[in-house]
Amino acid sequence: MQMQIETPVRGPWGTMRVDENGHLSIGGCDLVDLAARYGTPLVVYDEQWLRERIRCFRAVQRPGWTVKVSYAAKAFCTLAMCQLVAEEGLGLDVVSGGELFTALKAGVEPAQIHMHGNNKTWQELAYAVESGIGLIIVDNAVELNMLAEIAERAGRVVDILIRVAPGVEAHTHDFISTGQQDSKFGFDLASGQADDALQRLAVEPRLRCVGLHSHIGSQIFEADGFTLAIQRMGQLYARGLRLGLPLRILNVGGGFGIRYTEEDQPQPIVDSVDGILDAVAAVVRETGIPQPEVWLEPGRSIVGPAGTTLYTLGTQKRVPGVRNYVSIDGGMSDNPRLALYGAKYDAVLANRAKDTGGDAWAVAGKCCESGDMLIWDAELPNPQPGDLLAVFSTGAYTYSMASHYNRNPKPAVVFVRDGQAQVVVERETWADLVQHDRLLQPWRS
Ligand SMILES: Cc1ncc(COP(=O)(O)O)c(C=O)c1O
Repeated sequence: MQMQIETPVRGPWGTMRVDENGHLSIGGCDLVDLAARYGTPLVVYDEQWLRERIRCFRAVQRPGWTVKVSYAAKAFCTLAMCQLVAEEGLGLDVVSGGELFTALKAGVEPAQIHMHGNNKTWQELAYAVESGIGLIIVDNAVELNMLAEIAERAGRVVDILIRVAPGVEAHTHDFISTGQQDSKFGFDLASGQADDALQRLAVEPRLRCVGLHSHIGSQIFEADGFTLAIQRMGQLYARGLRLGLPLRILNVGGGFGIRYTEEDQPQPIVDSVDGILDAVAAVVRETGIPQPEVWLEPGRSIVGPAGTTLYTLGTQKRVPGVRNYVSIDGGMSDNPRLALYGAKYDAVLANRAKDTGGDAWAVAGKCCESGDMLIWDAELPNPQPGDLLAVFSTGAYTYSMASHYNRNPKPAVVFVRDGQAQVVVERETWADLVQHDRLLQPWRS
């Protein structure tokens, strides 16, 4: 059977199936069995879908073009994920010393890694330079000075891209919109900061500026933001070349939207990427710049739909005429996205996936915050304590954003494939929660 790689508005994708007992399965593994074996909350990744999805990105090439795809590790960064990304031949984008450490531990080639971040510390930059990663995306003038000094002390020439805020409003939530002028990220284009940086780099011996970067935001469905950003970046690229900079890369970031609920209607990946390549081709024609390498950094669109989180339902509360609440054994401590920016999800009962209809239920977490909600209006067929809730498209910015709020241990993560499951992150225990705590000792008098 052909696997559904795009995430349809209705219906399953990847290896998701409902068996004759009404149990949901992924990768040939019954989710009821997985919950019994590994406990809940449990994040289940469809490994085959992940690999196929990466191959969709890699397949978009044009004759004579170099299109490089790097996975934005922030979406979900663990050893196994970095390992899988490297096996599939993607580059890796990291934003911290911790993500870089994870990638290197997983065996990712340093040359395939590039580093972002609006406030990289000296220690993180020095670690990146010492590790010999492919390049560093410089975010601001303070970092430029710091990196020049680190490169000087190390006696190295470091390849960099300049991150630019192109002044483009992406049609997405304010908190995941990053290309507008009023943003903490990147050199501002409109006020000339980006041009100043390029001029400085034209005479900077230790930093070799090989390209430009912009990332306009996340969960984007419309192409116009990308097109406008690419037009502006193309003009800047042409000015950089006139300054004599060895530019060869135009990195347009990530941001491709995915389906969380029926409201989201993502384009097939191939169409989204094709639209970007068309915009670059247009800029090449208009400005006369040589064809740049086009770099992409998808995160959410690679891992988001691959992940399903399983919770066990617990208590209920019906407020007559107002709302029905049902609680899960997790919450904002493993998925803060609704609390952060009103994210929406679809869910079914994994042990009764054929049952349909039912009242609207607000799915509440177990943390001590009224805002600790996962879904405001899930249609659930008479949910009972002990039922298993499968929440879809929870593979991106969930586990990676998990916290220990209320001292909830972080869930386990499994990859599933061909009827087998592998734990790739062990469930934390209560003992893990106190491992870095120290009892107060008597003060010296
Ligand atoms: C610089 C950069 N690149 C890529 C991404 C990945 O975006 P997405 O997960 O929406 O594809 C982000 C997300 O914040 C980012 O900041």
